[in-house]
Amino acid sequence: MAKITYIEHNGREHVVDVANGLTVMEGARDNNIPGIEADCGGACACSTCHAYVVPDWVEKLPAKEAMEEDMLDFAWQPDPARSRLTCQLKVTDDLDGLVVQLPEKQI
Ligand code: FES
Repeated sequence: MAKITYIEHNGREHVVDVANGLTVMEGARDNNIPGIEADCGGACACSTCHAYVVPDWVEKLPAKEAMEEDMLDFAWQPDPARSRLTCQLKVTDDLDGLVVQLPEKQI
């Protein structure tokens, strides 16, 4: 279980508990958090689950796979240092306290 904070582009924060084994995208979807669309359902094929990881967390997350890296090119205003596809981030206890900021829009 990890407590994850999702911050909408307008600054509204959502702090939710997400079970291990789900993804950061599923945590947003299951809690009806606006800003994550996840059109492909988590198959790393749409880039509409894009979020910016706060700087403190960038190094603590597992590295991006090549597929995620490629799909991020299609995201709305990706930041090479902080952007992630949240469907590719599996929740574990290690992600407790993670904070992600949601982009102004998805694509
Ligand atoms: Fe489509 Fe993440 S949900 S790439």
